Order: sequence, then C-alpha cells, then structure tokens
Amino acid sequence: LDKRIKLKNGVEMPVIGLGTSLRGKPNKVDNQQFIDSIKHALNIGYRHIDTAKAYNNENLIGQAIKESSVDRKEIFLVTKLFPDDMGFEKTLKAFEKSCKQLQVDYVDLYLIHFPGKPNKPDAQLEKSRQLRLDSWKALEKLYNDGKCRAIGVSNFMKRHLEELLEAGMSLPMINQCEFHPYYNNKDLWDYCNQIGVQFEGYSPLGKGNLLNDDVVLSLAQKYSKTPAQILLNWCLRNNVITVPGSTNLERLEENFNVFDFSLSDSDVDLLWNLNKNEKVSWDPTNVV
Ligand code: A2P
Repeated sequence: LDKRIKLKNGVEMPVIGLGTSLRGKPNKVDNQQFIDSIKHALNIGYRHIDTAKAYNNENLIGQAIKESSVDRKEIFLVTKLFPDDMGFEKTLKAFEKSCKQLQVDYVDLYLIHFPGKPNKPDAQLEKSRQLRLDSWKALEKLYNDGKCRAIGVSNFMKRHLEELLEAGMSLPMINQCEFHPYYNNKDLWDYCNQIGVQFEGYSPLGKGNLLNDDVVLSLAQKYSKTPAQILLNWCLRNNVITVPGSTNLERLEENFNVFDFSLSDSDVDLLWNLNKNEKVSWDPTNVV
C-alpha cells in the first residue's frame, strides 16, 4: 500500500500522520516526554504531524521538529484554525500565530477546525455562514500567497461543503472527520469522494473502543497483526488518510507498520458493517 496520497493540486501527503490531540488529558505525559515521542516518531519514519491551535501544543511540536534530525521540508505539517478565530482578518492573524508557535514560515496543510463553535449551536445562522466563508477566503489567500501548500476543513458536513459550492468558492482539498468502523461516516465519505475532496479520518482506533471488538480481534489473528494495525490498514484500503495518536514508543512503531499487508475486499466490508453511528469525538451535527 502506498505511503502517500496525491492531493488534487499535486501535493503529496503521507497517509499515516501522527495525531497529537491527546496531550493535556489526565494521565498523559509531560512536555519532555511528549517532545521525545515526536522526535521518536520522526526517527522511525513518520513524516506527517497533525496538530491544531486547540491542542495547545504547537510550540512543543515546533521544538521537537527543530531538535530532530529531520529537515523541516521533509515533514508534512498540519495545523488548524481555532473556532474563536473565524473571520477573514482574524484567520490571517491566527495563521501567523500558529506559524510562530511552530517556528515555521509555512505549513503544509491548514484546516478550518470546526464549521462553528463546538456544542454551541449558533442561533444566528447567517453570521455563522459568513464566518465560514470569510475564513475560507482567508485560507484561499494563504494558499495563493504560498504560505500553505494545501488548505482544507475539518468536521464539515455535506451542507457546509455545499455552502462553499453555492458561494462559488473553491472546494477544500481535505475534509478531516471522525472515521473508524463504529462511526464510519459513510454518507460523508461517499460525498467527499464524489466531489473530489480527499477524506481524512481522525480517531482511527475509536479512542481504543475498537481494540477489543470480536471482528477486529479475529482479523488480527487472521493476518498476524495487532488490532490497531487492522484498523489503520482499513483506513488505507478506503483511501482515507489517518492520524493515530500515541506517545508510547512501541505503539508509535506499531501504528506506522501498516503498509506491508492488505485486508481483502471482503474483510474491508466486514469492518464497514460494524457501524454503530457511535461517535467518540465532538458531534458537529448541532452546529448550524
Ligand atoms: P497511548 O498514547 O498510551 O498509546 P485514537 O487515535 O483513536 O484517538 O486513539 C488514541 C488512543 O489509543 C490513545 O489513548 C493511545 O494511547 C491509544 N493507542 C494508540 N495506538 C495504540 C495501539 N497501537 N494500541 C493500543 N492503543 C493505542
């Protein structure tokens, strides 16, 4: 299986990225351990790091990249616009701030993190729509100015993508959404494939919920792989870029060693059939 996917502008993106959203949660590692885990990931071949202003760790990632032996240009670095920073000018400023934290002068991919404010349905529909369009205009400018190699969105539903089309704007190159067998997001995945928006998934292990699933365990045995490797291979087989997160050195390696086998078509389908519409992450459906 290929390690990279070509986006519609020709830029190549590594299909397995390092997710970094877990830091700061209870019982997670301290700053130095976090930095060390990123450097380890780079050492063993990860070339894609996924962060966001919301994760509050851009500075540590910047430091890890600086301290690593890998050239910045070799790394596909992704960060995201915080919901409070929506709007044209605010987006441009927020982008500069993220670059400063990351100690870089460009990012590879900049995403609008959420279509609105999580868990705060905005009664002012028109205002929310305008903020999305203005932010997207700012991302288009950043792209045209060469400050990002690609631009996209995250947690956008079909209607948010249609809104961009209706406004006559360009389509995002990526839509990053929750994607794992218990929440397979199939309608949105289909729609994105149909309109040429590359689908990217987060929480590929369902935050661990899927690791004890009977079907996943039986496939792990069948292929002599771990449950996590089965779940990640399933993403790759569905042309989905994904960002498993771990700060554990062995699990980082495990999650990166998923290219040397391929689930059969029928086993891919078996996993599609596990859907429960069970989200482990934020629910975008209550955002206008
Ligand atoms: P840890 O950092 O201790 O490895 P998701 O990517 O679906 O959000 O899941 C991330 C969670 O799964 C983290 O809590 C991480 O914890 C754990 N995890 C990551 N990789 C693996 C793996 N290969 N096997 C088991 N658990 C994993």
